[in-house]
Amino acid sequence: MSAFITLKDIRKGFEMPDGETFWALKGINMEIRKGELTILRGRSGSGKTTLLNILGALDQPTSGSILYEDEDISTWTDEQREQLRRFQMGFVFQSVALVPMMTAYENVEFALRLAGFEGDHAKRAAECLHMVGLQSRMDHMPEEMSGGEQQRVAIARAICHKPKVIFADEPTAELDTNTGLMVMKIFKDLIAQEGVTVVVSTHDPGLMELGDTVYEIEAGEMIGAEEQS
Ligand SMILES: Nc1ncnc2c1ncn2[C@@H]1O[C@H](COP(=O)(O)OP(=O)(O)OP(=O)(O)O)[C@@H](O)[C@H]1O
Ligand SMILES: [Mg+2]
Repeated sequence: MSAFITLKDIRKGFEMPDGETFWALKGINMEIRKGELTILRGRSGSGKTTLLNILGALDQPTSGSILYEDEDISTWTDEQREQLRRFQMGFVFQSVALVPMMTAYENVEFALRLAGFEGDHAKRAAECLHMVGLQSRMDHMPEEMSGGEQQRVAIARAICHKPKVIFADEPTAELDTNTGLMVMKIFKDLIAQEGVTVVVSTHDPGLMELGDTVYEIEAGEMIGAEEQS
């Protein structure tokens, strides 16, 4: 399968109060392939969020290049990267950030509006909630749902505008392993049904088996890449 996103020698430094630079990423090389579930594993502080923010065009590397479908987006303007995020990417975070005053359906429909989705909003919102198994919860408020259900609404919201890729930063961190596994399976289903590519970070060793490729990061360095059959 073809490379969809390629990182070449990505370094990210943060200026510390003492004037020294802290290197959170020390020359990362990796490839994200289309239609795969890529898992990024590593301990707290290893650099997962920093790396996902660069992959998702939310942050710029200090040096190195990011090829997104063969275009080097590290040279793009903020405006170009904003457009890329809005139309081609979807994001899921550790803490679910649903709009509390909106039902599950309204949360997804709102995301469709923000993305300027041109199709039938009602149909697409219902379809996405169905894909994450929440067809019977469309009219529930976030506070009436479990953490796992809320995270599934967040996934429906991330996929609804038909992005090419979803980045999920520890989406299972606040869930037990079984619920986390269910969330990972939903990502696999979305890959099969929607042809999307998914990159997920986690530190839960019980969730690795579903990844097509598992990258391991430690102290800002890639220490392993494993392809599973
Ligand atoms: N804005 C920043 N300024 C200074 N240091 C930072 C900044 N952001 C991250 N770091 C440092 O970079 C390292 C990697 O942080 P990062 O958030 O990427 O880790 P992580 O793997 O996502 O950890 P966790 O599992 O706890 O979320 C950490 O040592 C962190 O303290
Ligand atoms: Mg993190």
